[in-house]
Amino acid sequence: MTRRGLLRGTSACLAAAGSLGAALAADRPIPFGSAAEIETFRKDARYRDALKRYCDVIVPMNDLKWEALRHDRPRFDFSGADELVGFAEANKKALRGHTLLWGEALPPWAKEMATRAEAERELVNHIEIVVDRYKGRVGTWDVVNEVIKYDPTEGGPYRDTIWQRLLGPEHVDIAFRTAARVDPKARLVLNDFHFEEPVPGAAARRKVALDICRRLKDKGIPVHGIGMQAHLYADKGIDVDGLQRFMRDLDELGLDVEITELDVIDWKLPADPAQRDKTAAALVSTFLEAIVSAKRPKAIVTWGLTDRYSWVHETFPRKDSARARPLPLDADYRQKPMMAVLERYRRGLA
Ligand code: XIL
Repeated sequence: MTRRGLLRGTSACLAAAGSLGAALAADRPIPFGSAAEIETFRKDARYRDALKRYCDVIVPMNDLKWEALRHDRPRFDFSGADELVGFAEANKKALRGHTLLWGEALPPWAKEMATRAEAERELVNHIEIVVDRYKGRVGTWDVVNEVIKYDPTEGGPYRDTIWQRLLGPEHVDIAFRTAARVDPKARLVLNDFHFEEPVPGAAARRKVALDICRRLKDKGIPVHGIGMQAHLYADKGIDVDGLQRFMRDLDELGLDVEITELDVIDWKLPADPAQRDKTAAALVSTFLEAIVSAKRPKAIVTWGLTDRYSWVHETFPRKDSARARPLPLDADYRQKPMMAVLERYRRGLA
């Protein structure tokens, strides 16, 4: 195809923006999405409008976590998740499910499980009920979240969680096997963070992620891709070569990549908002260039849309108490330079 033909194709994509069917076709823009937080979703109409306007994909930010679904041990509470899933379906958005197994966001009773049999029974039962409820509706699941030790060069390779303590490495197998059995058509993803920094720990994490997926495949357990959270630290660099190698390794294993929780942690940047936005956009650009030039992600998902609401503000507070600016829209829903970068990469214009 000529460059001109390519550009014509691209403007057709631009015209079709917002249509899920179009966004999912191979020569269409990479689907873009965001996590949606339920309290904000309920109270802020502008937030709902932004989700409708910008997203092809929606991820319930917290409502599919154990803490939300399983607060009371015998009873599942699907109220928040159902609300967000309903909104996504009514607006023809695809859904990612986050997450079936995580060592955090657990209700107190789950942290007190004591035997292997109990942990396995609870895990299998949980995944059966949750995946079955959203079968054919949640197309992709973060089956396991953050199961890799923060720095596998210091031991591991699995993170020390209640699941690892009671079930050992098999917790990952059980989760994927159960999810695949209940919804054989769902895309199943291993989701984790800290893959992109130019440090040996991140390289070791990439290797562990590949090893886990290879091991699952060798056992005949379905796994379709790796989710890179991509909470990017503005004060640290991006390992472009390492990421490109990672993309080739994923290709060799027949695995997809998804960007699942993109945002920029700007706590160490100078105060000036315009300067911070510029730095954040450049960082996202460097990161996406490394990925997209080597492999087309199945989706690019940010962890929220507007700086008005973000976990970064509380989790990575700035010394000067200024609001964090981690996301593509500012606190008044105006597009920031980061949004232009996202658009460029998902439409192949970069
Ligand atoms: C965060 C949410 O954004 C917060 O609202 C919540 O209080 C804590 O969890 N990695 C993950 C996400 O996989 O689930 C986390 O989300 C952010 C880090």
